[in-house]
Amino acid sequence: MEGSNAFRLLFIGLGLFVAGCSSLKLGETCSSGNVCDPGLRCETCPANGNTRPRCTRIQPLSPTSKVKGLPFNKYSWLTTHNSYAITSSKSGTGSALLSPTNQEDSVTSQLKNGVRGLMLDMYDFQNDIWLCHSFGGQCYNYTAFQPAINVLKEIEAFLAANPSEIVTIFIEDYVTSPMGLTKVFNASNLNKYWFPVSKMPKSGEDWPTVDDMVQQNERLVVFTSKSAKEASEGIAYNWKYVLENQYGNDGMKAGSCPNRAESPPMNTATVSLILQNYFPTNPNETGACLDNSAPLISMTNSCYEAAGKRWPNFIAVDFYQRSDGGGAPEAVDEVNGQLTCGCANVAYCSVCHLCSIITLLFLRLFFPNLSSFHVLLLNFQD
Ligand SMILES: *[C@@H]1O[C@H](CO)[C@@H](O)[C@H](O)[C@H]1NC(C)=O
Ligand SMILES: *[C@@H]1O[C@H](CO)[C@@H](O)[C@H](O)[C@H]1NC(C)=O
Ligand SMILES: *[C@@H]1O[C@H](CO)[C@@H](O)[C@H](O)[C@H]1NC(C)=O
Ligand SMILES: *[C@@H]1O[C@H](CO)[C@@H](O)[C@H](O)[C@H]1NC(C)=O
Repeated sequence: MEGSNAFRLLFIGLGLFVAGCSSLKLGETCSSGNVCDPGLRCETCPANGNTRPRCTRIQPLSPTSKVKGLPFNKYSWLTTHNSYAITSSKSGTGSALLSPTNQEDSVTSQLKNGVRGLMLDMYDFQNDIWLCHSFGGQCYNYTAFQPAINVLKEIEAFLAANPSEIVTIFIEDYVTSPMGLTKVFNASNLNKYWFPVSKMPKSGEDWPTVDDMVQQNERLVVFTSKSAKEASEGIAYNWKYVLENQYGNDGMKAGSCPNRAESPPMNTATVSLILQNYFPTNPNETGACLDNSAPLISMTNSCYEAAGKRWPNFIAVDFYQRSDGGGAPEAVDEVNGQLTCGCANVAYCSVCHLCSIITLLFLRLFFPNLSSFHVLLLNFQD
């Protein structure tokens, strides 16, 4: 009698335990009381007709832990457009902010979620360098988010705590004060992670491997939009090293991936990195879940074709957490699959490789006459 009571209690306890811990997988219906697994959040996407709240992805897989040690340009990195322009933030000046915003969480949170490319607009302002979403090359109280050093220190803390991670910063550079950027990077302690311009490939070669970059502790890659700063401050001029498609509405026309005006053509073979912008001219918080879904993935294919069959290394979006399911993290995983192992998704790399090897052995067994060329075609066309 006593024993069976104890059993019953154990079962009830177990039941409660399981119910209490129950969490939801990708695509499952969620509600405020039903929490999604880590790396997911509960979303609807009315812009796409999806009104059922479902668990959607906010984190890509870490490509360097799936396929290790490749050159830096053989990976793709989730990138946030105007990473610092965060919804409902207040201006550091105390004034009301009138600038549009492009993201929802802090740079620290973005980095934690696997964002590895950050687009930062830097201005001279109040005798310092500020992150502003402004116009006319001038920052105002009502367009000033915060001093750049705050966000640079967040990046420094992340690099210090994660010694095998690499972060890339794209500066939209309005700074004219002498050595302005160097001073703020020095003050944030980020200069110790600096990847030197001298090591950046200049004729389309591969970058150093991610292992090299980690071993040398050269884990911060910085590009500026001002060409003169490469000579004056040792900050790489963006479009010498990175091909970039058109941003804004003109860059969202399905099926085409033209270069932005400052960038060489997308198929320029002497430039090793490719950045794909995919966000509208005016940030659209409710439209982002649609943009960041199937159309984003479709654009990676258009950009692959435009870039002479090369996949984008950076995929830059607004509201990176918004989608109707897999979103920007899924796009990055798919591109990483193609880049690192020729599979449809970096998640399948190990299995996919095993399949390739088994297929190869079988083909050799039954069709000894088949040329290696044909075998390769059979394996890698998917
Ligand atoms: C801008 O903000 C600063 C405080 O950071 C304040 O001293 C200044 O008066 C403000 N300027 C205008 C034009 O409101
Ligand atoms: C930045 O720091 C380096 C050493 O880390 C130093 O040589 C350089 O003078 C500093 N530059 C400025 C503008 O502070
Ligand atoms: C934002 O996106 C929604 C959904 O796609 C669309 O209906 C709306 O017109 C867009 N807003 C702007 C300002 O473009
Ligand atoms: C293999 O290919 C050669 C020509 O490349 C041909 O002469 C031969 O008959 C083929 N053998 C078989 C078993 O198909």
